[in-house]
Amino acid sequence: MKTIKVNASVSYDVIIGEGLLSQAGDYCKAALGKACRLCVVTDDTVAPLYLDTVTSSLEAAGFDLFYYVFPSGEESKNTENLVELLEILAANRLTRADALVALGGGVIGDLTGFAAAVYLRGIRFVQIPTTLLAAVDSSVGGKTAVNLLAGKNLVGAFHQPSLVLCDYTTLDTLAPEVFADGCAEVIKYGAINDRAFFDKLRLGVRSQIEEVIATCVESKAKIVQEDEFDTGTRQLLNLGHTVGHAIELCSELTVSHGSAVAMGMVIVTRMAVRLGLCPEAELYELIDLLRQEGLPTECPFSAEKLTEVATADKKRSGDTITLVIPHGIGNCRLVKAPIDRLCELIGKGLGA
Ligand SMILES: NC(=O)c1ccc[n+]([C@@H]2O[C@H](COP(=O)([O-])OP(=O)(O)OC[C@H]3O[C@@H](n4cnc5c(N)ncnc54)[C@H](O)[C@@H]3O)[C@@H](O)[C@H]2O)c1
Repeated sequence: MKTIKVNASVSYDVIIGEGLLSQAGDYCKAALGKACRLCVVTDDTVAPLYLDTVTSSLEAAGFDLFYYVFPSGEESKNTENLVELLEILAANRLTRADALVALGGGVIGDLTGFAAAVYLRGIRFVQIPTTLLAAVDSSVGGKTAVNLLAGKNLVGAFHQPSLVLCDYTTLDTLAPEVFADGCAEVIKYGAINDRAFFDKLRLGVRSQIEEVIATCVESKAKIVQEDEFDTGTRQLLNLGHTVGHAIELCSELTVSHGSAVAMGMVIVTRMAVRLGLCPEAELYELIDLLRQEGLPTECPFSAEKLTEVATADKKRSGDTITLVIPHGIGNCRLVKAPIDRLCELIGKGLGA
């Protein structure tokens, strides 16, 4: 078992280990101070697998519970479901002394976290991630959001959890492609600033899962502590994401987040190679590692289509957009690119 402390505007522990779901009650009581009223939010894939274990443990620790189950999938991360959840919290008279528990992947974590950020101007919440992506990325750092029709995560808030409880035995029930999605974010940490970790990943993600999750969480904690509100170094975590979000939207969300990020990382790395900034061999190393973990590396959309969608991205600021450019594996830098060059740059990344 490993515990990593995140010292952001709120300090909290990320606890990573086996069999933690059945101890959720004790860990939540320690993090929240005492038993209170809780709403556990989950989805209809995770509920039959893990909801009973978590609610039994919470009840045994004295928490007074109710729960809410959304349909699984990215489509659930919308404003209608946010309002539905807020109405449920109000109807059940949840107070500022109470808390939410997000049991699930990044979709449930982002939606629940945002509800916690805005309900009664902010109540506490606990993240219990059950996907690899949520374990290594979305459950840590306090970014919460839902999607608008115009784009992903366009409405949200920074709101740190009180605890992240990561029981990695839950990853055993993930569909292989969902596990692979998380691998894209894992590989991203190596590609951003940790060459040694990238090299270690060649041994496979699953065989060293506790260490892999802990390394990613430590890396994210360090970045979040430096730049909680995403005005500088935290933007490095967006490697592959500007193009990745555009790919998700162009596909009408049929391409998953992790697959889109994998394609996005390849596109910006190839772009950097063609601009003479990154050695070509490092592009092939990245492609090999992504393929090893079952991720796609070729994008089916044109530069024009991707640019049209990417210009609505939050990382746009006036006439420029901040891109994360690899100068090699483990050596990424932030670059402000003029919007009117974006299509040409993405075109280089696609091989046009
Ligand atoms: N807040 C952040 O910092 C941040 C960072 C990265 C990604 N995200 C967001 O995270 C979301 C993607 O997260 P995700 O990949 O976890 O998707 P997800 O939450 O949709 O989960 C993927 C699928 O796996 C199922 N699932 C979850 N846990 C399971 C388990 N243990 N066993 C079997 N099935 C399980 C879910 O029901 C779903 O069908 C996106 O919306 C993305 O924008 C947020």
